[in-house]
Amino acid sequence: MVAIGIVGCGGIAQQHLSCLKQIPEAKVAAFCDIDLGRAKAMASSVHGSRAYKDVSEMLGAEKLDAVYVCVPPFAHGFEKLVVERGLHIFVEKPIALSLEMAKEIEAAIARAGVVNSVGYMWRYLDTTELAIKTLERNGPIGLVLGQYHDPYWFPPGHWWISKSKGGGQVVEQSTHVFDLVRYVAGDVSRVYGELGTLLLNEVPGFDVEDVSVVSLRFKSGAVGVVTSTCASRKTFTGTKVSFLAKNVAAELGGHAGYAKIYWDDRVEEAKANVDPYLEEDRVFVEAVRTGDASGVKSPYSDALETLKVTIFANKSSEDRRPYQVD
Ligand SMILES: NC(=O)c1ccc[n+]([C@@H]2O[C@H](COP(=O)([O-])OP(=O)(O)OC[C@H]3O[C@@H](n4cnc5c(N)ncnc54)[C@H](O)[C@@H]3O)[C@@H](O)[C@H]2O)c1
Repeated sequence: MVAIGIVGCGGIAQQHLSCLKQIPEAKVAAFCDIDLGRAKAMASSVHGSRAYKDVSEMLGAEKLDAVYVCVPPFAHGFEKLVVERGLHIFVEKPIALSLEMAKEIEAAIARAGVVNSVGYMWRYLDTTELAIKTLERNGPIGLVLGQYHDPYWFPPGHWWISKSKGGGQVVEQSTHVFDLVRYVAGDVSRVYGELGTLLLNEVPGFDVEDVSVVSLRFKSGAVGVVTSTCASRKTFTGTKVSFLAKNVAAELGGHAGYAKIYWDDRVEEAKANVDPYLEEDRVFVEAVRTGDASGVKSPYSDALETLKVTIFANKSSEDRRPYQVD
């Protein structure tokens, strides 16, 4: 059995817990949250598990194999304590709000040699795999179009609406699109962003961008653009990425996952057959159990490259100039 501790007991922790309960080799033994009530509430659903308010206390008291880091973006940093104890680690995106912190954690992970994975679950969709194979056979990719268009739904005072706590939509939310774009089309060499706060100015405490356009140059030479808004109308939303290659176009979209493959004479459509959250957790637990991490599709060092793209998109908008990513 793989003994797991979860740090941060909010929405995404609940998602992982429900997946981990379906994996026979996994046992969630401990929950930790600065709001002890939340940790206790989750612990009450797992027989024999314990609740903690402090990470160090949990690490000292429990015999764990792995830790899930499910805290908001501003609360990262304690990962070093986890991996220095030789514990394997799963980290939710975005991995940090600064490249300095993410690089320090990456170095600690490398020194410890532990299994590591980041929650970019769209990489685990079978539809993603289908698009990659189709594009590889019919490439090269020339143009990438991504979008993350959401209506505004955050309750007053939520950490997400604060730039210093959540990092803003590009870093926190559209990061899924940037990561998928990198996974399919390869690494980004140059980025230029235009971010603005134009539609939600009246929301108290709201200081993140609500509209943005980020243009990308890939190392392959391909070009791309990702548009984002968290201020859309409910009838004008959607999350998708399209890739135009030499002989085919492919569109990946929706949180549940679909692929559309556009040929000259027909459009093929496929719906995902896997739950990407369950799949990423199953792969992580198996990697911890066997020591073979080859199935992990989003190691920490790779997620750092996605963080770079989103942070440089912000910097480029502030400085009004493109940024080289490497
Ligand atoms: N992969 C996905 O699809 C996905 C979906 C939702 C959220 N997320 C990510 O997961 C992270 C958490 O999001 P959420 O929606 O679960 O947030 P949330 O606000 O619902 O829950 C976060 C929890 O962490 C706790 N917390 C804060 N600081 C802590 C600390 N230092 N130690 C222990 N606990 C602490 C809070 O009290 C809260 O209970 C975010 O980075 C978010 O981007 C990923």
